[in-house]
Amino acid sequence: MIKLSTLELDRPLILAPMDGYTNIPLRLIIKESGADLMFTEFVNSDAVIYENKKTLDKIRILAEERPVAIQLFGKKPANMAEAAKIIEQAGPELIDINFGCPAPTVSGHGSGSAILKDLPLLSRICESVVQAVKIPVSAKTRLGWDDSNINIFQTAKIFEESGISMMTLHPRTKAQKFNGISDWEYIKRLKTELNIPLIGNGDIVDPEDVLRMFEYTECDGVMIGREAVKNPWIFRQAKDLLRTGRYEKEIPFEERKRLCLKHFDLSVQYLGDRKGVLEMRKLYQNYFRNISGIKNLKKRIFECENPGDVRKILTDFDPCGDELPEIEQA
Ligand SMILES: Cc1cc2nc3c(=O)[nH]c(=O)nc-3n(C[C@H](O)[C@H](O)[C@H](O)COP(=O)(O)O)c2cc1C
Repeated sequence: MIKLSTLELDRPLILAPMDGYTNIPLRLIIKESGADLMFTEFVNSDAVIYENKKTLDKIRILAEERPVAIQLFGKKPANMAEAAKIIEQAGPELIDINFGCPAPTVSGHGSGSAILKDLPLLSRICESVVQAVKIPVSAKTRLGWDDSNINIFQTAKIFEESGISMMTLHPRTKAQKFNGISDWEYIKRLKTELNIPLIGNGDIVDPEDVLRMFEYTECDGVMIGREAVKNPWIFRQAKDLLRTGRYEKEIPFEERKRLCLKHFDLSVQYLGDRKGVLEMRKLYQNYFRNISGIKNLKKRIFECENPGDVRKILTDFDPCGDELPEIEQA
């Protein structure tokens, strides 16, 4: 059982932070699927302090999606502390610090995984954030900078010593980015040494992987990233598998359509007409994977920017029909 202040999580399944994806609409969809904790997209500490409008939108959370962790990145301990105080006002259960992002826009500026090259700085950042807020602080990281600089065991020790309450390991190096495999052996080894809860992450592609990750590594919780976007039902499926040994493998078409429409409505509601319509374009492929007519559906939808038109095309989508009906002109 993970205990973080008033939060108690029993073998939680967690939605990973994903820039450009884990916004309010996706989080509400994943909440319905049964996730126990969800992470926001990361936010830049300096942008939080300067009250950047887009950044402040990203730290907004709703009562119905709790518990939520807001993830923060940056390289200056004082700014990270100041930003953490502002974030605490948004009311998350947890603040998470990003020490893993390999993207040049982040690590190229000395934040995210770049801090794995400077463990004294990592320590100062953790201590500053932990001291700045009353809520628990967690950290998410990778194995190290590259194969010659794997320092995860030292990093984890620093997390413990600086008051970090829980950590997530995505066991790849920064240099690997998303190449190669996520080496769960490190999660297993770290679990035997660590005194704070450890969340395992990396390459979960089906519910069986969730079971395998728990059994093989003995981690305290499992975090799912890319597969949650491809298959939002994975949390429910994995929970069923853990509880009963069985789960619904094929999600029926009507359920796919229902959830896609709900996601669409939430996107328009929370992101606005234009952004809501455009953001959804990344997701139809996932909702209707292997469904005949998806190409035609996407073509029709991508020609529309009006939410009403898109909604009608989605509602009328019928893979058994030969042709999609024309949109009626008003
Ligand atoms: C599009 C995308 C955006 C991501 N953004 C973040 C982020 O904001 N913060 C973070 O810690 N990790 C981020 N990650 C990494 C994921 O949280 C996760 O660690 C990684 O995808 C491995 O898990 P998976 O194999 O289940 O996807 C991102 C990954 C992807 C694919």
